[in-house]
Amino acid sequence: MRKEEISFEYEIYGGVDELSASDAALLQEAKAITATAYAPYSGFLVGAVARMKNGSTVSGTNQENAAYPVGICAERVLMSVAAVLYPNEPIDTLAITYHNSKGTSNSPVSPCGMCRQALKEFEERTAQPIRLILSGESGSVFIISKSTQLLPFSFGSEDMNK
Ligand code: THU
Repeated sequence: MRKEEISFEYEIYGGVDELSASDAALLQEAKAITATAYAPYSGFLVGAVARMKNGSTVSGTNQENAAYPVGICAERVLMSVAAVLYPNEPIDTLAITYHNSKGTSNSPVSPCGMCRQALKEFEERTAQPIRLILSGESGSVFIISKSTQLLPFSFGSEDMNK
């Protein structure tokens, strides 16, 4: 028997003012785009904005439905938009933020498990890690250098080709 450990480092910033100008601008865009979320059921409005490798930006917000499981997260809306507008173009950095109309919005949230799986496949199909900026409306900001770090032991296309 032997043991192994999986860990990763991430960066914690005290606030948006500590970020580089381009990261701060992306996060500001993500905050603004939360206004287009359709979240009448949860009241939790999520905004995601990606800086693509080609320099353009792509946005996504969560879109809910009265039949709850039909709803889709901001991150997966964004990845679908990106894949249609810029086929095979890698995402360089993805800023994710939210407005919780029923509570506070002062600490980062990270993508749900389903979005982590979708991010993994997006990274693989475009052969580039996706850097994440996670933040609430205020408070600290987390930067994670590779979205797949959030999904160790993941299942992927490589497992089907063994
Ligand atoms: N949601 C996202 O869009 N992204 C996340 O990273 C977490 C959760 C959405 C799904 C649902 O519409 C609402 O937030 C509450 O879970």
